[in-house]
Amino acid sequence: MRLIFLGAPGAGKGTLAAGISIKYAIPQVSTGDLFREAVKNGTELGRKVKSIMERGELVPDELTVELVRERLGRPDTRSGYILDGFPRTMPQAMSLDGFQSIDAVINFQINDEGVVRRLSGRRICKSCGAIYHVENRPPKREGKCDSCGAALYIRDDDRIESIRNRLRVYKEQTEPLIAHYRGKGLLKDIDASRNVEDSLAQLQPILQALKTGR
Ligand code: AP5
Repeated sequence: MRLIFLGAPGAGKGTLAAGISIKYAIPQVSTGDLFREAVKNGTELGRKVKSIMERGELVPDELTVELVRERLGRPDTRSGYILDGFPRTMPQAMSLDGFQSIDAVINFQINDEGVVRRLSGRRICKSCGAIYHVENRPPKREGKCDSCGAALYIRDDDRIESIRNRLRVYKEQTEPLIAHYRGKGLLKDIDASRNVEDSLAQLQPILQALKTGR
């Protein structure tokens, strides 16, 4: 199964991708995670993208497409993958069309108010990357990851100015992809504004149908 998770920042793409990746044994390929890893490791790519990400702008298309092309060339993607946060510009989508065929694009629908509420309460594990929310998915012990016990942190781009900018960038550059994929007959909408279980309940039948070819 080759899937794209498309949607505004904070729509819940990463949260759902983590569970689906385990259930269907396909890797979650998150460009955001790959860039954050590069920043953390101080690589040349990391130095190039750090300030872009902090401002909530998009990394240039050439760098992003190259990163994804390399990642999708690895053997673990042979039986499928979830592209989480890629593509998010028309040039990225056109490039991807040129080297991969996708089975479905899941469009996570949520309004701006919901995005702000989710991102301003998000906490992430420093060690394993597990995603929490102070109200919706609080950890059992405050500030500590349930899975590995490491400290939780707030992403640099989850400050309110950056959230607003990410929303603007999403509307200008990423929203046009909805029409692109709808036109190809690949788009599946889900209402992502309710709880995680509700989003999962909408997603499961879509994935099951893809898996069984019905
Ligand atoms: P990226 O990491 O992709 O960020 P994003 O798209 O802004 O998405 P988020 O990770 O913020 O949100 P999400 O939808 O995964 O939500 P989550 O599950 O965490 O990109 C970061 C940056 O990298 C970009 O700004 C850009 O600079 C660069 N970049 C990345 N890809 C790029 C590309 N293709 N081209 C160019 N640049 C690129 O959930 C959010 C919160 O809500 C959590 O606290 C969670 O617990 C909670 N939550 C989730 N679902 C629910 C639910 N159903 N109910 C209640 N709470 C929920």
